[in-house]
Amino acid sequence: MARSGAAGRPGLLLACGLLLWGATAGGASKVEVSLLEVVEVELGQTARIPCNFSLPEASDYAYINWFYIDKRSRTKIYYMVRGQVFEVDTEYKGRVAMEDDFTLTISRVTLQDARTFVCQVGAGSLGVGENRTKLHIYKTPEPPEIQVNDAGIPVTSKEIPKIAVCISKNGFPAPNITWYKNGSPLWQDDTKISILSTLIKESSGLYTVSSTLFARVSREDRQSRFHCAVSYCLLGADQTAVSEKVNVTVFYSTEKLSLVIRSPQPQVREGDEVTLHCEGDGNPPPEYNLLKVQEGAQAEEKDLTSSNGVLILRKVKKEDSGRYLCRTFDLDSMASLEATAELSVNYLEGLKITPEGPIQLQQGEGLALTCDARGSKPLELRWKKEKKGKLLGHGKQLKLSNVTLESSGNYSCEVSVAGVPGLSRSKQVYVAVHAKPQISPKDSLVPVKQNELVTLMCRATALPEPTITWSINGTVQNHIDHHHVISNLTVQVTPELLQSGVTCMATNKLGTSSLHITLQLRTTTTSPPPIGNTTAEPIKKEQKTQESKGVIIVAVIVCILVIAVLGAVLYFLHKKGKIPCNRTGKQDITRPDARKDEIVVEVKSDKLPEEAGLLQGANSEKRPAGDQAEKYIDLRN
Ligand SMILES: *[C@@H]1O[C@H](CO)[C@@H](O)[C@H](O)[C@H]1NC(C)=O
Ligand SMILES: *[C@@H]1O[C@H](CO)[C@@H](O)[C@H](O)[C@H]1NC(C)=O
Ligand SMILES: *[C@@H]1O[C@H](CO)[C@@H](O)[C@H](O)[C@H]1NC(C)=O
Ligand SMILES: *[C@@H]1O[C@H](CO)[C@@H](O)[C@H](O)[C@H]1NC(C)=O
Ligand SMILES: *[C@@H]1O[C@H](CO)[C@@H](O)[C@H](O)[C@H]1NC(C)=O
Ligand SMILES: *[C@@H]1O[C@H](CO)[C@@H](O)[C@H](O)[C@H]1NC(C)=O
Ligand SMILES: *[C@@H]1O[C@H](CO)[C@@H](O)[C@H](O)[C@H]1NC(C)=O
Ligand SMILES: *[C@@H]1O[C@H](CO)[C@@H](O)[C@H](O)[C@H]1NC(C)=O
Ligand SMILES: *[C@@H]1O[C@H](CO)[C@@H](O)[C@H](O)[C@H]1NC(C)=O
Repeated sequence: MARSGAAGRPGLLLACGLLLWGATAGGASKVEVSLLEVVEVELGQTARIPCNFSLPEASDYAYINWFYIDKRSRTKIYYMVRGQVFEVDTEYKGRVAMEDDFTLTISRVTLQDARTFVCQVGAGSLGVGENRTKLHIYKTPEPPEIQVNDAGIPVTSKEIPKIAVCISKNGFPAPNITWYKNGSPLWQDDTKISILSTLIKESSGLYTVSSTLFARVSREDRQSRFHCAVSYCLLGADQTAVSEKVNVTVFYSTEKLSLVIRSPQPQVREGDEVTLHCEGDGNPPPEYNLLKVQEGAQAEEKDLTSSNGVLILRKVKKEDSGRYLCRTFDLDSMASLEATAELSVNYLEGLKITPEGPIQLQQGEGLALTCDARGSKPLELRWKKEKKGKLLGHGKQLKLSNVTLESSGNYSCEVSVAGVPGLSRSKQVYVAVHAKPQISPKDSLVPVKQNELVTLMCRATALPEPTITWSINGTVQNHIDHHHVISNLTVQVTPELLQSGVTCMATNKLGTSSLHITLQLRTTTTSPPPIGNTTAEPIKKEQKTQESKGVIIVAVIVCILVIAVLGAVLYFLHKKGKIPCNRTGKQDITRPDARKDEIVVEVKSDKLPEEAGLLQGANSEKRPAGDQAEKYIDLRN
């Protein structure tokens, strides 16, 4: 465009001149100034408005002016001429300055500073350039405060009830308030929700917004959570601050009523703590009436004093069983609601055993014990000897027959109610069986050594308790445990004693028993060499060797007898000539020779089955005794 000025035709001069003017006045000057469109600053802080300009190379600016624009007129507030700065006497005096890069700073900004500022750069013949920046002042509003309507809101309310008020103070510019229920935003609607907002401009110029939420509530809103959010713009971005979440008290009538029985276990037992609980779903809870229905010819109701529909029966009795009724009256619907529950208290009583103890019996007698009780359900009865003893039987009766001393003791009847855990009782009766003394024969043979001190033991049982006397003098020690008496006699072994032995006698009013104790000298030479080791009890070993000796003797005698009989038979037959010497049944009966031994064994087996078994076991073949006996008979025929 500047080149057009070189045109030489006079007719075009005007046009050229117009163009030239247009070029300078229309901003086509060589000075380009660039400013930010908007600068935002928080109230009270320092605003910085940078001013950039570019000039052709090797040229310099002449001046820089800063203005603000107010209702289209501009006011110079600061300028710089040839490196010198001047502050104009305006409202900005003292608050403005320019940094080295020509950035204008305004300190302690006020709401009035929210206006447009112009940076003008002059560079002599190059012209003048300018650009402008809008200064935005903002103030973050205070976090929103929520005030919930704590009076409680009836669901039946005619008008749309007030829920809460939300206030956010001192913001700039004016912020917005949005309401939320359970996290979802609420919008104005004609029938259910109404939001009333007010904006107050404070004397400071800041805005305080408040918003009141009106909304219809339902039963379910007792769990709803409301909150409000304040939203504002900051540096071109949306910001929000949220209030705390609140819930409202909702009033609604009782629709469902129930009467609940609470007890330690489903089956209520006498003595349990039982709670009857009227539970209605209204808010506030209604007034409850708790009644007991008296069953009978005419069902009547008895009022029970309860607090808030709760009745605690601390130690429930069987008389507390029955039908309970909870009643409430709803004032809104004018309807009465009822709920009932049945309480049945399980019991167990009147436990007794007949005949009553203590029971005295004579040995050999019999007795039937009967256990009786009453309960709310079928009873289970168990008999035991002593409380922790083993089970003797089930059912009402326990029969004892042919009793012995050992039958003495406590017989316990345990009763429990079927299907009611923990409801049981027990009772016991003492049975004493009188018997004459019995002495344990175990101690009748005592191995001793000459002259040693020996302790002889006599164990007797009887009821009444027996007294034990010894036939000789010595040191006696007695131990008595119920009907067992143990008496120890310590004496020195003398030849006379070895010969006479010792007698112990147990006596009670029913009779006397005695035991003769033989003292036997312990000798090592007469006994056969021990098979096992020598630690085995001497008495047992002695018995064993005697037994085995007896067995051997019997076996030998039987063998001799059999051989003799066989010999006699064979001899007889031979003499008669019925059997030739060379064919003794061999052709008739093809029996292997080994079997002949078995035949011998069978003869014995008739008389001594145990030994036969033993000997059979020694043979490799096992066959039934009868089988072989038959063959033996065959052979003879
Ligand atoms: C003002 O400055 C902005 C940003 O640098 C630029 O885009 C714009 O063209 C300038 N306006 C004038 C009239 O120079
Ligand atoms: C001014 O110039 C500086 C440096 O060249 C640059 O960083 C800044 O963005 C410029 N500002 C404007 C408003 O053009
Ligand atoms: C305030 O709400 C209106 C309408 O929803 C919206 O247009 C405006 O941008 C909001 N202002 C702020 C500061 O969020
Ligand atoms: C709000 O709800 C909580 C828990 O759900 C409850 O403890 C509190 O009492 C309720 N407050 C009101 C005013 O209903
Ligand atoms: C009684 O018991 C004794 C010893 O236990 C026994 O000998 C007797 O035969 C029993 N009598 C009856 C009738 O059972
Ligand atoms: C039987 O019961 C009574 C009373 O409980 C007790 O004193 C006695 O020792 C019991 N007798 C036996 C033999 O356990
Ligand atoms: C036992 O000793 C008493 C005196 O302590 C005496 O009178 C009695 O004869 C003695 N009996 C025997 C069997 O030795
Ligand atoms: C009797 O003697 C036996 C063994 O000889 C002993 O175990 C027991 O404790 C004694 N009893 C008394 C009452 O001295
Ligand atoms: C005695 O016999 C037992 C078992 O029969 C055995 O354990 C023990 O070692 C034997 N003792 C001696 C001294 O032989």
